[in-house]
Amino acid sequence: MSARMLAIHADITTLKVDAIVNAANTSLLGGGGVDGAIHRAAGSELLHECRLLGGCKTGEAKRTRGYRLPAAFIIHTVGPVWRGGSEGEPALLEACYRNALHLAAECNARSIAFPSISTGIYGYPIEAAARLAVITVHEELPRHPGIDEVLFCCFSASDLAIYQQALAEQQH
Ligand code: AR6
Repeated sequence: MSARMLAIHADITTLKVDAIVNAANTSLLGGGGVDGAIHRAAGSELLHECRLLGGCKTGEAKRTRGYRLPAAFIIHTVGPVWRGGSEGEPALLEACYRNALHLAAECNARSIAFPSISTGIYGYPIEAAARLAVITVHEELPRHPGIDEVLFCCFSASDLAIYQQALAEQQH
């Protein structure tokens, strides 16, 4: 089955998907941006579960329950901080998408939503990050036939336009 990839403009904490991805930091104990929004919406039980995980390395991913979110699972991944692009940032960002999809498939998620990892506080240029996200997910999906919907959840209209462009390029 070919999974659908779609870009949407939304607050990721509102999405009724099986799993949402969090752009966390290595402590996994919360922060600003989408991480802060997810912790606020899921409630304090999320922080309790995160404390048991022992942090997460950049490029890796760990899973928790979704608690008060509509999503059953949260997949926490840590994107790279942008340092100009020659410090392995693309490979690390790619690993975030691959590892998150792998964990989603392990818990039988059929639908998953990604925020634009690393492109906020961590400063990764959005056009490059969007292209990498779309290409990586497209390459990885055949390994996970149970996943039939991948949403790229954009927090602004301008980010949405960039993801839509990346999806259009990928289809040609
Ligand atoms: N729904 C969807 N996307 C959102 C939401 C939301 N509710 N809120 C923000 N975004 P960022 P990073 C977008 O900064 O760059 C945290 O402090 C945002 O507009 O959240 O990976 C962590 O603890 C941007 O497009 O994540 C880390 O310390 C995207 O989510 C650090 O920030 C990612 O922006 C991680 O930085």
